[in-house]
Amino acid sequence: MELEEEKALAGRAAAGHVRPGQKLALGTGSTTSFAIRALAEKFPSGDHLSIVASSNATERLAVELGLPVRALEPGDKFDLMIDGADEVAPTLALTKGGGGALFREKFLARLSAELVIAVDHTKLVPKLGTRHPIPIEVVPFARVKLLHQLTERALSPRLRADRASGAPVLTDNGNEILDLFPENGVDDPARLDHELRVLPGVIETGIFVGLAHRIYVGLPDGTVQEILPGGGPPP
Ligand code: 5RP
Repeated sequence: MELEEEKALAGRAAAGHVRPGQKLALGTGSTTSFAIRALAEKFPSGDHLSIVASSNATERLAVELGLPVRALEPGDKFDLMIDGADEVAPTLALTKGGGGALFREKFLARLSAELVIAVDHTKLVPKLGTRHPIPIEVVPFARVKLLHQLTERALSPRLRADRASGAPVLTDNGNEILDLFPENGVDDPARLDHELRVLPGVIETGIFVGLAHRIYVGLPDGTVQEILPGGGPPP
């Protein structure tokens, strides 16, 4: 089975979790896009859903499909957030930000009662930083200093740049992304997250610890595995 089909299976399973009238936060990426398409099919008239998107791309897609997307409001809390991930560790710690939306994704995840993550099977890793770099969003002015500090910490930072133009990729917030390549992966994600966030100029990291409540994994045999905190399938 193609990875795209695994993503579609997982995305549809995540959308299956949504009930009419819920307040939803939507993540970013190809797997989330499958969930958004499934949501639009499941709720063709919006069904009183109330949705905040984590990126301009997600907002465009959801609006195009007729889903009711709105801006963040002061009292916002969400019943559910659906998102993808670049890596899922056995502890359900995640690496996110392959699509550069990590700040808004983490911001919305913290406001959500439940974070449901949909991934294909290749995203399951023994530890973070082994399959995908760890992205951090940084203020452009601070980039030169941060590159030096992160290199000294053996994190091999690389500025994310557009392949065609070579220009730095800018987030929806107008910031840059540094991708970090820790040599042997990340042994303590919570600690690295903290160590990075205290560096002046770092806006947010793509390390999500203790935020995911449920993972749907599309598998090569066409089934979907559901993983809950604690490692096992649901009772
Ligand atoms: C965007 C993200 C995405 O969820 C992550 O990159 C996974 O993307 P995809 O579903 O396309 O593999 O964190 O910032």
